[in-house]
Amino acid sequence: MLQTDRIILRPWRDDDAEALFRYASDPDVGPRAGWPPHQSVDESLEIIRTIFHSDHIWAIELKKTGEAIGCIGYYAHGESNIDIGENDVEAGYWVAKPYWNRGICTEALQLLIDYCFKTKGFRTIWSDFFVDNPASGRVMEKCGFRDTGEINYCSRLQHGNDKPVKVMRLDNRLK
Ligand SMILES: CC(C)(COP(=O)(O)OP(=O)(O)OC[C@H]1O[C@@H](n2cnc3c(N)ncnc32)[C@H](O)[C@@H]1OP(=O)(O)O)[C@@H](O)C(=O)NCCC(=O)NCCS
Repeated sequence: MLQTDRIILRPWRDDDAEALFRYASDPDVGPRAGWPPHQSVDESLEIIRTIFHSDHIWAIELKKTGEAIGCIGYYAHGESNIDIGENDVEAGYWVAKPYWNRGICTEALQLLIDYCFKTKGFRTIWSDFFVDNPASGRVMEKCGFRDTGEINYCSRLQHGNDKPVKVMRLDNRLK
């Protein structure tokens, strides 16, 4: 189980659709992560059944309420927004606005890092953030990622593929 005292990372379920719509329809969330705000509960349900139907994308559930309040996961080689090696992954995440700045994303990313390095044995985790979204870069820094100095464009994004991102990396010290 990927969990801390406050959160669990678990698969998305159909009954998360209303919570997903509530938080993912916020225009301050999706566009900062490269996707457009959700337009309806039906669209959120469809996304749960397609994009989120994956063994490497998890809901961030707040244990106290049982509600899904964010999403975290990784893209493997061949799925990523930036060029990565065969044993590398690219991490992505978002947290619902009412829960920002409480350390939740940092906690979730640390769980993901432990899983990727200790359980899966990946070599490097890459991540990237729009240069005008420093809060996301701060989460990566707090988890030990370092700035590669590279600026990139993510052509596969649904939203913001013309906007520069900063590329960050974290190497597996166990390797
Ligand atoms: C980025 C995001 C995931 C952070 O989630 P979170 O749970 O609030 O993150 P944390 O509380 O763990 O850490 C946030 C850090 O950013 C800092 N921060 C917040 N706003 C900031 C800003 N405008 N500039 C710089 N740092 C900022 C916070 O102070 C905190 O750092 P600190 O602990 O050193 O004080 C959340 O804001 C979000 O979902 N945003 C929209 C989607 C998104 O950007 N996804 C990432 C795409 S790359």
